[in-house]
Amino acid sequence: LARGAAAPDLAGRHVVVSAGGTREALDPVRFLGNRSSGKQGYALAVTAAARGARVTLLAANTELPDPAGVDVVRVTSALSLREAAHLAAKDADAVVMAAAVADFRPALYATAKIKKVDGVEPAPVELVRNPDILAELSAGRARPGQLVVGFAAETDHVLANGRAKLARKGCDLLVVNEVGEAKGFGTDTNAAVVLGADGSETVVPHGPKEDLAEVVWDLVSARLA
Ligand code: CTP
Ligand code: CA
Repeated sequence: LARGAAAPDLAGRHVVVSAGGTREALDPVRFLGNRSSGKQGYALAVTAAARGARVTLLAANTELPDPAGVDVVRVTSALSLREAAHLAAKDADAVVMAAAVADFRPALYATAKIKKVDGVEPAPVELVRNPDILAELSAGRARPGQLVVGFAAETDHVLANGRAKLARKGCDLLVVNEVGEAKGFGTDTNAAVVLGADGSETVVPHGPKEDLAEVVWDLVSARLA
């Protein structure tokens, strides 16, 4: 973090952060969703702006106030997040995928509200895979040297699962959170290990989501330099 008269370390940089959780529509009034509040992504956006970055925040179904000095782009489904992410990434120095992206979406979207019919059992909901936005961004860097950061929520074998996921996704950094019943989702605190493709391992003790955000930007900033 810049102190005194020094220029803030992310000045002149454009960073893209996704936050919240995607919703996959079944019909005009129903969706499949998840419990992500968006707090970690917003903390990343706020701290990056404070460090001088131009920030594009891709907000998926969040209920948080727009942070000052941040460009907020609202998205809903994984497909809409994908489009917004590829567009915003074009001139970005770093992209951080903190959003919880649905792995699946309903195969069919009913354009009219689905009605129940007495005596008829409901049809099972067929799902299809969503594209892996993080893997796409990592494989097709929009500019040379662009940094791509992912998040992973794991309940067990946190480090082993995290290392395997980092390799699979092809990103530069993976922030691995241990989630449980009262950890991670919706809370104001987090504990994590940030794994680097270069083999680095940075332990972030349990604390405010802003503290984890600052560590992420420290690691990004060092790799951009
Ligand atoms: N992610 C993504 N697109 C998807 C799914 C996930 O960009 N369709 C991103 C998330 O934003 C996150 C990272 O990938 O940064 C890891 O998400 P996670 O759900 O932990 O990974 P998955 O590969 O979906 O693995 P799992 O089967 O454990 O859910
Ligand atoms: Ca997933």
